[in-house]
Amino acid sequence: TTVAQAAPDGRPPVTIAHRGASTYAPENTLASIDAADRLGFEWVENDVQRTKDGELVILHDNSLARTTNVEQVFPGRSPWRVSDFTLREIEKLDAGSWFGRKFRGERVPTLEDYMDEVEHNDQSLLMELKSPELYPGIERQTLNELRRAGWLDKGHVKSRLIIQSFNADALKTVHRLRPDLTTGFLGNPSVADLPKFARYCDQINPVHTAVTPEYVAAVHGLKGPHRRPLDLYTWTVDDAATAVKVAGLGVDGIITNKPDVVRDAVGGD
Ligand code: G3P
Ligand code: CA
Repeated sequence: TTVAQAAPDGRPPVTIAHRGASTYAPENTLASIDAADRLGFEWVENDVQRTKDGELVILHDNSLARTTNVEQVFPGRSPWRVSDFTLREIEKLDAGSWFGRKFRGERVPTLEDYMDEVEHNDQSLLMELKSPELYPGIERQTLNELRRAGWLDKGHVKSRLIIQSFNADALKTVHRLRPDLTTGFLGNPSVADLPKFARYCDQINPVHTAVTPEYVAAVHGLKGPHRRPLDLYTWTVDDAATAVKVAGLGVDGIITNKPDVVRDAVGGD
């Protein structure tokens, strides 16, 4: 086991299981968060999108084709966009077999079922609003569902929930609706632009190839909307050498498909 050079604050970065422990179970399914839980990981990441009839579901691609058997069940409905299918239709799909026979019967989870499982496992969630530009109003709708599931109470908001997106406008909306929530921008704005993001983002979350000592210092040098220094979570780091490198650069979080590999490399929970 290689142990990383300690980050400037002396703590190892938090490890986040990307789409669940998605090297070991089909991404963005309940099986994937259960796999993360069994490996001992508190933090999981997911992607939220919306069906034709307005239900929130957990799926990464805008299309159902890669991670379900939609092409067999609904031939001729190419390109199989999630927004072209009702929840009843999506519930008929197998979201596990593509990954491995033993996962046959896994479903595309609704946000509601997903939140129940995260709560059941006592886990924490880095939730991505994926392509919110395709789904007008998804910010408010997601917050309403989170509230109904009990995830906007003080305890959850304070330490168990982060909302991230590549879409800055969506994050501005989330911050306006619920200023107490922690938000993260996915991307690497220029250093000159960072102060604008710090008005409504608590985190800047760049791809790992964009992480440099200067960039980490610039992010950490700014305070976010909650008057705390901005954090930096990076993605998607699946090998020990890169994990050690970014930990040494002082990142606060590592988003990974192989959380066990990252934990072995950098330590921490
Ligand atoms: O959490 C970071 C990462 O999920 C962003 O990329 O395409 O995997 O959603 P993507
Ligand atoms: Ca994501």
